Amino acid sequence: LSSGSMDFELTETQRMIRDTARDFAAKEVAPKAAELDKNERWPAELVAKMGELGFLGIAVPEEYGGAGLDHVSYALAMEEISAACASTGVIMSVNNSLFCDPLVKFGSEKQKKEILTPVARGEKLGCFGLTEPMSGSDAQTMATVAKKVDGGWVIDGAKNWITNGPHADYIILFAITEKDPTTGKVKHTAFVIPSGTAGFTKNARDHKLGIKAAHSCTVFFENCFVPDDAVVGKVGEGFKVAMATLDGGRIGIASQALGIAKAALEKSVQYAKERKSFGVTIDKHQAIQFMIADMGTELDAARLLTWRAAALKDKAVTDKSVRHSMESAQAKLYASEMSTRVAHKAIQIHGGYGYSTEFPVERNYRDARITELYEGTSEIQRIVIAANLLKG
Ligand code: CAA
Repeated sequence: LSSGSMDFELTETQRMIRDTARDFAAKEVAPKAAELDKNERWPAELVAKMGELGFLGIAVPEEYGGAGLDHVSYALAMEEISAACASTGVIMSVNNSLFCDPLVKFGSEKQKKEILTPVARGEKLGCFGLTEPMSGSDAQTMATVAKKVDGGWVIDGAKNWITNGPHADYIILFAITEKDPTTGKVKHTAFVIPSGTAGFTKNARDHKLGIKAAHSCTVFFENCFVPDDAVVGKVGEGFKVAMATLDGGRIGIASQALGIAKAALEKSVQYAKERKSFGVTIDKHQAIQFMIADMGTELDAARLLTWRAAALKDKAVTDKSVRHSMESAQAKLYASEMSTRVAHKAIQIHGGYGYSTEFPVERNYRDARITELYEGTSEIQRIVIAANLLKG
């Protein structure tokens, strides 16, 4: 037998960031979560505090305003924040994974200095524009176009479900920049565009089933001129920028799903030890014990998948041959569906009280559902996983 080793221990720094996030979540986020949800209120004060703590640019190098930590640390902090408030979690995730990460990987030095740095510090906020009213899962088929003109590009189109959109200072936008007249094959380009640019407007925010405090909206580009230096990465390679970004974003959403499930499990354990039926607290009933056992086992399985994907993303930072598309998709698929199952059982354990807004598990249940939809539906994750397993 070869003497291999596999280390499931977190490093001291990873434990420190997890504990800092847990402490902040317990003291400042959790007490506000029900109110944020009820009033659909954007948590401006928590976003500002996350910026101060370095949570809005966790894996961004320090020279560009980030905390300079690894992606496992990011996953840990995302889980803790999301356990307290999934809305606050996704605001953090979009800024880290969908805005900062592509600028770290594909941005020019000027974009890194002038745009990434204040966004990673939390002084400014970012969002990501890929989805359109008629193009979600089939992302290549977008209708937004950018036409080359002297000194820049003119953009026309609309993007919807843009999380952070109403409050964001910048958007990373994907548009078609080339279409083959015979085959119809298109090429895309990524742009980074400040809010307030002439021709870039935003609709009122959306109203949703869950993550109600994380505002999203539709954004419009009408004859919107952006200079050449707004291009992120290479002209014509924007789809790869989008896909590589989502490989990271899916780790963020998997971690958000872990947090929601962790919260639902903890509340269920607590409730089961207090509530009595048939002469005993309900934790003595095997029906409840089996639900708790399944919840804990599935949560741990999802966490291991998520940490594996995050650890691979860390490897990919220095070794460009490392890809983690499949592992990120597996983590996101399993963690999101697990989160919905766990939140479902949490309501079952709470009985009628679980259905009431007086208890947090109904919010967990509503919040969990989105994790199966955004940053690629469960069906898209299965397509990515199957393509990887069947290739070659
Ligand atoms: N990394 C780098 N390049 C990649 C890649 C990856 N992970 N995946 C694909 N590519 C490249 C391919 O190599 C290919 O390149 P070539 O043309 O040079 O060969 C190109 O991209 C096209 O790839 P496919 O043919 O596989 O593309 P497809 O059209 O079949 O689509 C898909 C693949 C996986 C279905 C993709 O469209 C997809 O992921 N769809 C879901 C979109 C999504 O997740 N949207 C979420 C929106 S963001 C959001 O939700 C934000 C929020 O609110 C929080």
